[in-house]
Amino acid sequence: MKALVYGGPGEKSWSEVPDPEIRHPGDAILRVDTTTICGTDLHILKGDVPAVEAGRVLGHEGVGTIMQVGSSVTGLKPGDRVIISCIKSCGHCPNCRAGLYSHCLGEEGRAGIGWVLGHLIDGTQAELVRIPYAENSLHLLPEGVPDEQAVMLSDILPTGFEIGVQYGQVKPGDVVAVIGAGPVGLAAIATAGLYGAATIVAVDVDTNRLEASRGFGATDTVDSSASGWKDQVLALTDGAGVDVAIEAVGIPATFAMAVDLVRPGGHVANIGVHGKPVELHLEDLWIRNITISTGLVNANTTPMLLKLVSSGKIPAGLLATHHFTFDRIMDAYDTFARAAETKALKVVITP
Ligand SMILES: NC(=O)c1ccc[n+]([C@@H]2O[C@H](COP(=O)([O-])OP(=O)(O)OC[C@H]3O[C@@H](n4cnc5c(N)ncnc54)[C@H](O)[C@@H]3O)[C@@H](O)[C@H]2O)c1
Ligand SMILES: [Zn+2]
Ligand SMILES: [Zn+2]
Repeated sequence: MKALVYGGPGEKSWSEVPDPEIRHPGDAILRVDTTTICGTDLHILKGDVPAVEAGRVLGHEGVGTIMQVGSSVTGLKPGDRVIISCIKSCGHCPNCRAGLYSHCLGEEGRAGIGWVLGHLIDGTQAELVRIPYAENSLHLLPEGVPDEQAVMLSDILPTGFEIGVQYGQVKPGDVVAVIGAGPVGLAAIATAGLYGAATIVAVDVDTNRLEASRGFGATDTVDSSASGWKDQVLALTDGAGVDVAIEAVGIPATFAMAVDLVRPGGHVANIGVHGKPVELHLEDLWIRNITISTGLVNANTTPMLLKLVSSGKIPAGLLATHHFTFDRIMDAYDTFARAAETKALKVVITP
């Protein structure tokens, strides 16, 4: 089969590799019908995720059709259309039983569960993919949900909702600021209303993305490259700050912005993957009764979010801005990497 192979920092190619095979009774082999590229794939290509070895097939998002299942898989069969979760989990270990799928301990003798696809095992930017723990890591896709909407449920929609909105404890009437209106921030914007946020402020430096955020439910937008950006956000509150500040960028400056915007008693929900240390001013913060949360997506809300995508309550289709076939995957990477110029949100890649 053909696959997008990581060749070490800065190197990638669409190359011929061996077809995946069933290795454990709980595995499934899928034909990939739709995949996409995540900001994390760009981090890997920069060499920021050293655990990814040269030769690895990238990609942790996708929709596919089951071709073959291992002997212990009973709930899925060849021909089923499924969403591939970015998190693989056994469903039985103590962490899975507590709902912390991202920290699945796996079964005895089999380590490396959680986010493994396109990281520690070969991923979804390929014609075929092997999915371990298939029954707990795949979601049957109902008729009527197009692939290009379903693929947003692999990673970004559950990430924005779980790590942004749920961990941020958004409640009715809240003013929520989302810093970073990339795909993940837009997913937080699209789901903050589920818990009754009254005001959802998108904060970004990219005016195209700010404009796009209104389609996902942002009530206000603030360009944080402007000097009065903080006053603009505070003017949308009673003056004391936002109830919840969601960080969806992953750099020290935007974490500091989130902490700066939040009201006493409020919540800062950090979603961003940080590559550098971030200063935490506890000497100022201790007296403000602020809660700060972090996390890796569990993707336990994917089935619920699928219902909302299916009924049209989450406009997942708006994320799919560019379309490519597998043989043009290098162009897809180029378009996604230059998002500010190309106005790309998510690129949809199909056979
Ligand atoms: N915690 C998790 O489980 C998890 C899962 C997936 C992704 N992530 C992380 O979430 C973050 C967002 O992902 P994405 O794919 O949306 O990224 P992205 O790079 O597409 O979007 C980031 C946005 O931040 C904006 N931005 C950059 N600098 C800014 C600044 N100084 N002020 C305001 N806005 C600024 C950019 O213009 C862009 O729109 C990344 O760090 C990603 O690695 C975390
Ligand atoms: Zn991702
Ligand atoms: Zn587990």
